[in-house]
Amino acid sequence: MRDEALAAVAAAGDLEALREVKVAHTGDRSPLALANREIGALPPHAKADAGKRVGQARGAVNKALAARQAELEAERDARVLVEEAVDVTLPYDRVPAGARHPITTLSERIEDVFVAMGYEVAEGPEVEAEWFNFDALNFPPDHPAREMQDTFFVQGAKGRDGAGSGVVLRTHTSPVQVRSMLERKPPIYVICPGRTYRTDELDATHTPVFSQVELLAIDEGLTMADLKGTLDHMVTALFGEGMSTRLRPNFFPFTEPSAEMDMQCYVCRGASVGNPDRPCRTCSSEGWIELGGCGMVNPRVLIACGVDPEKYSGFAFGFGIERMLMFRHNVEDMRDMVEGDVRFTRPFGMEI
Ligand code: FA5
Repeated sequence: MRDEALAAVAAAGDLEALREVKVAHTGDRSPLALANREIGALPPHAKADAGKRVGQARGAVNKALAARQAELEAERDARVLVEEAVDVTLPYDRVPAGARHPITTLSERIEDVFVAMGYEVAEGPEVEAEWFNFDALNFPPDHPAREMQDTFFVQGAKGRDGAGSGVVLRTHTSPVQVRSMLERKPPIYVICPGRTYRTDELDATHTPVFSQVELLAIDEGLTMADLKGTLDHMVTALFGEGMSTRLRPNFFPFTEPSAEMDMQCYVCRGASVGNPDRPCRTCSSEGWIELGGCGMVNPRVLIACGVDPEKYSGFAFGFGIERMLMFRHNVEDMRDMVEGDVRFTRPFGMEI
């Protein structure tokens, strides 16, 4: 019985098997325990010898069990140290960090140019009263821009009969001009970045939700020359020394005179014009890139906003940031800017 038990102990390959061997060979119903129990029934002269032999056998089995237990526990501990090891030298940041959207970083860079010149950043609501978005800016009631096909109306268009909510998703950042004039006293120098909405289809060059930056300066004696100088400074600060802008006549109800502003192509700087050997993709070999609209604030707008047009004049401009991002970084499709794929934003770098 002892030899069988010792052989079973030696053969136990893990702690679970050893536990079973222990029950089988030292438990209440094990052969050795039964033998121990039967000693009482032996004749007196045989008891001592039998008791000694059974006791020794049980002692040997218990000792072997304890030794094997210690051995198997040591093996298990060594294995666990390897299998469950934690490599504290592994990099902890394997989830890639995101990048800020280039529209945000470009917009902030533009703001910085003007904040450095003493301008304040002004903001307004994206859900805007039609009065701020159109009426105060001298859009006549039947101006086509107010139509449903251009403007997102919140709870119904006002229409020519005056019915409707009179609330729109702002179609440009120009209502912030109006708010700035009503909230501040001249001189006013503000830069207004923000999201704008139009019922345009999403395609390579349009998105229904886009971003604009608006600038407004109101002071005594401001002229188109100040506007032109400010624009030239902006494109130099953003695109490099020697850059300039040009103005072409245009019409906006809220500026008079109004102009379309172009900046010199910062890639070819005009060298591609009339030069088929050096075509430029950025400006389509025109030498100029269209930026947005600008002009002297219409005196009717000044009056609507409580500013005395006899004393003050002002200039304003506004342009789309998606469009600037397209030609500044050769983005060919505006849809990439709104689809939220990090493979698009990541190459613009981490500007935290
Ligand atoms: C305006 O929105 C005027 N408020 C700009 C202005 C401000 C003029 C101050 C005078 C004084 P316009 O509708 O042209 O102008 O839009 C300006 C720019 O917004 C465009 O040049 C274009 O870059 C951008 N834009 C317009 N619609 C979209 C669109 N659907 N997706 C992306 N960009 C757009």
